[in-house]
Amino acid sequence: MASPNVSALFFDYISLQSFLIFGMSFLIIYHLFTREKPVKLPPGPPCLPLIGNVHRLLGGRQRHIVMAKMSDKFGGIMNINVFGKRVVLLTDLQLIREAFLDKTDRFSDRVQSQFGEYIWGFKGSLVFGNGKGWKYHRRTTLRALRNFGMGKRSLENKINEEARYLARSFEDESGRPFNPQPSVQNAVSNVICSISFGNRYEYDDPEFRSLLDYIKMFMSKLAVPSIVSKIPKLWVTPFYKSLKKQTDECISFLRGVVEHHKATFDSNDIRDIIDVHLQDNDDECGAEEKLPRSLIWRGIFDLFAAGTDTTSNAILWAMLVLTQYPHVQEKAQQEIDDLIGRERPPSLPDRLHLPYVDATLMEIQRFRPVGCFVPPRAASVDTELRGYTILKGTPVWVNLYAVLHSPKHWKDPEEFIPERFLSADGKRTETPEAFIPFGLGSRICIGEQLARMELFLFMTNLLQRFTFEFPKEDPKPNLAGELGITLSPGRFRICAVNR
Ligand code: HEM
Repeated sequence: MASPNVSALFFDYISLQSFLIFGMSFLIIYHLFTREKPVKLPPGPPCLPLIGNVHRLLGGRQRHIVMAKMSDKFGGIMNINVFGKRVVLLTDLQLIREAFLDKTDRFSDRVQSQFGEYIWGFKGSLVFGNGKGWKYHRRTTLRALRNFGMGKRSLENKINEEARYLARSFEDESGRPFNPQPSVQNAVSNVICSISFGNRYEYDDPEFRSLLDYIKMFMSKLAVPSIVSKIPKLWVTPFYKSLKKQTDECISFLRGVVEHHKATFDSNDIRDIIDVHLQDNDDECGAEEKLPRSLIWRGIFDLFAAGTDTTSNAILWAMLVLTQYPHVQEKAQQEIDDLIGRERPPSLPDRLHLPYVDATLMEIQRFRPVGCFVPPRAASVDTELRGYTILKGTPVWVNLYAVLHSPKHWKDPEEFIPERFLSADGKRTETPEAFIPFGLGSRICIGEQLARMELFLFMTNLLQRFTFEFPKEDPKPNLAGELGITLSPGRFRICAVNR
């Protein structure tokens, strides 16, 4: 029998081994060169199958507090899983500043919501648009807001006049308990309406009332950030069907106003923001980034919704909170009496000489911020933030409430203390870095100046005439509020007692 060829076997073995080693090395090197760079994602809570972390976000009307508490455990930057989709939640001031100020070009986009497209019939707008179109729209609207008086004496007269109508409607209640929400909302809305489409509406106008009810429902029943709007199957339920129907009615109201403006347009007499848009687009489609005439109503809707519900809720919060802190109300009234008296209407320069009033209004906005979350932004490219990677397209949720209530920035954050905004000698207000109720960076609220004007002029006018009291017969008010798109004080009654 021939002996086995040992050397042949040896070489067969070597060549097989070399082949395997060569092959493995090749695969490893190939993998190293072609694999996606490992990314370090922000930390976050463990996920459940399918729903991810949704069960942790269901804080109902108190989601802002639930999400602020989550960050105590997981830090100021958190990765959250919403039905398998990654979202980044920011609650830390320095991280928000880094993202929205230092890396502003990477975090200026808003998330494009499918729900928005369903409700409006197209993507984008002033609040939700991106890119060149949004930039152009924002610039034009800001210029128009300034031209029509934002921050100026001309608008001051209009707001004071509206405050007088509001005071008259309060007087009609003769100190008895009443729900102030409808008239405050109407008064505030009249300011933005007069700038946007040159009209104010009586408080008992039924068509305008139903429009305002719709805005209130829209802002209180929906949410940003929203989980429900990510489930298209829900949009066929009666609530969403009715929302869509009412939205269509609102659109046709605003379209009607724009049509009327078109019919009466005179380029030598630009009356309001609609006219500014009409002048800007003298053809039907306009340049790529311009707002086509057919969509002017959408820009006006954004101003109308963003400018009505936010500021009216801030005023309602001010009235309600002051009933619970009568010594603060008294001190603010005293300061107003000393400087202005009860007859002369307040003016913007008075604010500098009313530091306690100003500090009280700032503390209201910190204590119960109406914009707890900014409308979600999105990373436009992969971006590093504090060593973590935020991948392109990831929605970024920002919890302003968490910043405004963080013990890192505020002593006794759950207490209502206007003095925290005063200088040591009490003669002027100071604005801490963490006071950001209007957001930050390139998408900061464009109505900030208008809102601050309104809050100051309306409240000063009202405090000149009335002392607000909580009805003795009503159950104690719930100061936690109800979160929708805005944080509202919910339904309450108040007594406006003549001074
Ligand atoms: C107390 C009153 C108000 C508060 C607390 C408030 C708060 C905010 C916040 C937090 C944002 C998001 C900013 C960001 O993304 O960083 C915002 C955006 C916006 N606000 Fe306001 N707002 C108020 C009043 C107004 C008024 C009166 C108007 C109308 C003139 C207005 C129009 C807008 C618009 C159009 C945007 C979107 C800006 C953009 O995306 O470029 N807001 N607001």
